[in-house]
Amino acid sequence: PETIAEMLDRLSEIVPDYPSAGISFKDLTPVFADGQGLRRIVDEVIEPFRGQFDVIAGLEARGFVLAAAGAYATGTGMITVRKAGKLPREVFRDEYTLEYGTGTLEIHRDDVAPGTRVLILDDVLATGGTVGSAVRLLELAGAEVIGVGVVLELDGLGGREKLDGHTVHSLQLV
Ligand code: PRP
Ligand code: MG
Repeated sequence: PETIAEMLDRLSEIVPDYPSAGISFKDLTPVFADGQGLRRIVDEVIEPFRGQFDVIAGLEARGFVLAAAGAYATGTGMITVRKAGKLPREVFRDEYTLEYGTGTLEIHRDDVAPGTRVLILDDVLATGGTVGSAVRLLELAGAEVIGVGVVLELDGLGGREKLDGHTVHSLQLV
C-alpha cells in the first residue's frame, strides 16, 4: 500500500522559484482535487486527536478545506479563523509576523465557548506565525487547544519550536 508521503509526492506539484527565487513550493491543490487524496489527508491529519476535540478551527484560506471536511467527518463544528475585516460581529484580533510584514487574524468572540477543546488544522506549518496567532486567539476566547494538525511541515523554519507545548502532527516533513 502507498504511504501518505508517497501519495503526497505523487499528487502534489513542485513549483520552482515560487513565491520567490530559490524556494521550491509544494502545491497541494491536486491533492485537494483528488477524491481519495483529500479523504486520506483529512483522515490522517485528524487521526491522533480522535475523541479529544469538540470543534475544529480552520485557518483561512487553505485550512478551511481540511477543517470543514474534518468537522463533517467527525460530526463536530468548525471555527473559521479569518483574515482581518471579514467577520461582521465583535472579534478577537491578533497580529502576527510574516516573512515580510505582518498579517492579522480574527475570530468572533462568541464562536467558541470557554473550555471548548479545539483542534487547529492548516495545510502547511512554515514559521508557525499563522498557527501561533490562531492559538493565541483561541486561548484568548478561553478555549483549550488540544493539538495542531498540518499536511506539510517545512523543515528548518522553526514552526514546531514556536508552538512549544502544543502537540503538532504533520503528515510530511519537507
Ligand atoms: C500559508 C499557509 C499557512 C501559512 C504557513 O497561508 O496556508 O497558513 O502560510 O506559514 P507560517 O507558518 O509561516 O505562518 P497564506 O496566508 O499564505 O495563504 P492562504 O490564505 O492561501 O492560506
Ligand atoms: Mg494559509
